[in-house]
Amino acid sequence: MANRQFHLAWFLSRGFSPKAWRLPWAGDTAANWLKPDLFVDLARSMERACFDYLIIEDSSHVPYKYRNSHDIYLKYAAATPKMDPAVLVPYMAQATKHLGIVPTLSTTEYHPFMLARLINTLDHVTEGRVGWNMVTGSSDHGAQNYGRDAQYPHDERYDRADEFAEIVTKLWESWEADAVVLDKENVLFADGSKVHPIHYEGQFFRCRGPLNAPRSPQVRPVLCQAGGSPRGQRFAARWADTIIAVGDSIEQMKAFRADVRARALAAGRNPDHIKILFLAYPVVDVSMAAARERREMERPDCEQHIEMHLALMSTTGGIDLSQFDLDEPLPALTTNGHQSTVAKYAGKTTRGLAMANAIKSGIDFTGTADHVAGVMQEVMQEVGGDGFLLFNGEFTRRYIMEICDGLVPELQRRGLTRTEYPHKLFRDNLMAF
Ligand SMILES: Cc1cc2nc3c(=O)[nH]c(=O)nc-3n(C[C@H](O)[C@H](O)[C@H](O)COP(=O)(O)O)c2cc1C
Repeated sequence: MANRQFHLAWFLSRGFSPKAWRLPWAGDTAANWLKPDLFVDLARSMERACFDYLIIEDSSHVPYKYRNSHDIYLKYAAATPKMDPAVLVPYMAQATKHLGIVPTLSTTEYHPFMLARLINTLDHVTEGRVGWNMVTGSSDHGAQNYGRDAQYPHDERYDRADEFAEIVTKLWESWEADAVVLDKENVLFADGSKVHPIHYEGQFFRCRGPLNAPRSPQVRPVLCQAGGSPRGQRFAARWADTIIAVGDSIEQMKAFRADVRARALAAGRNPDHIKILFLAYPVVDVSMAAARERREMERPDCEQHIEMHLALMSTTGGIDLSQFDLDEPLPALTTNGHQSTVAKYAGKTTRGLAMANAIKSGIDFTGTADHVAGVMQEVMQEVGGDGFLLFNGEFTRRYIMEICDGLVPELQRRGLTRTEYPHKLFRDNLMAF
């Protein structure tokens, strides 16, 4: 068990957006984030360090939850602006050979046919390296851009998502593997008897099918999910190949993993076919003191810009946190947004929440590469698998080098993370251990 390998993935949190634009070492990214270069560099680095995949986060609205105004969000470039993640995929794929690339696309914003077609196309052009981060959307502001006043109720969003995923996966399989014949002599491009309409009639969606393109290299590209509530976990246990989750403590990670694995068994699946990756925000430097100093620098920044963090959290939780005194403990709150996030607010102050949001409290991954690799090793041994989803919403190229050329080589030296990609397809590499 000592050297059981685990997976690494990168969460491009806040998506295709300005990165670290007001912070030191950001180079030209403030002006140039609208071009793919920074993100292409990121993908190349992730592949150099043998990450399994990179997820591109997304939402499609300018938030105005905090004080009922979009000003704070625009002032800080907090959760907005954001461009379409699907457009980044081919650029990243063109610059790499093995890395899995996972755009976020919402089941309450896309139509299933449109999404099935997009992901199938991306799987073809990346030669089997795409995934889909299956989110349901949680913000009313997002819903308002798509013709509704508010989001569907929380659990109904997952009911719709279940139907959505049924249609999408049926469409991906609607062309049999040998449907394309390419017989020039007898003029037969594709055999009609091997291409099947799906005739789906659900409670929420209808779709005739078939898809208007052949099945793609992975057939079913890697499905990724992040539901934290019981209904969200049930959805993830049914569909996900990989689950991305918050990991505040070893106990919480173990409990989450046990829960998802039990649900997967109940859904008739092999729990080992769901790779659960926990969020981690490492700060690595040449000495323990230097790393601590880097982490501490985020405290004064948070104090100075506390409204930015509260505004971001207001959007995620779907509750305007400006209405509460900064130092009064919060009551129990209910939301139609991220339920698992808001459930953790009760009894905490908004100042404390903002600080925790800024410095990413939870397990402390701060120190030299050797130290942080050791902590990751211990945590994974305790939890039992399957890996970490590293992130830093305000990354610079310097930060990426520290991770990919500092931390990861130390993980590899210990035999903890992969040093090569044995397979061609993203799915096969993910399922390799
Ligand atoms: C690591 C992580 C990444 C996520 N990425 C996105 C995203 O890109 N877009 C989005 O709308 N929701 C995203 N979510 C939110 C989830 O899809 C889900 O709505 C959230 O975890 C709350 O689930 P629950 O309501 O079942 O508790 C993410 C959540 C986590 C933990």
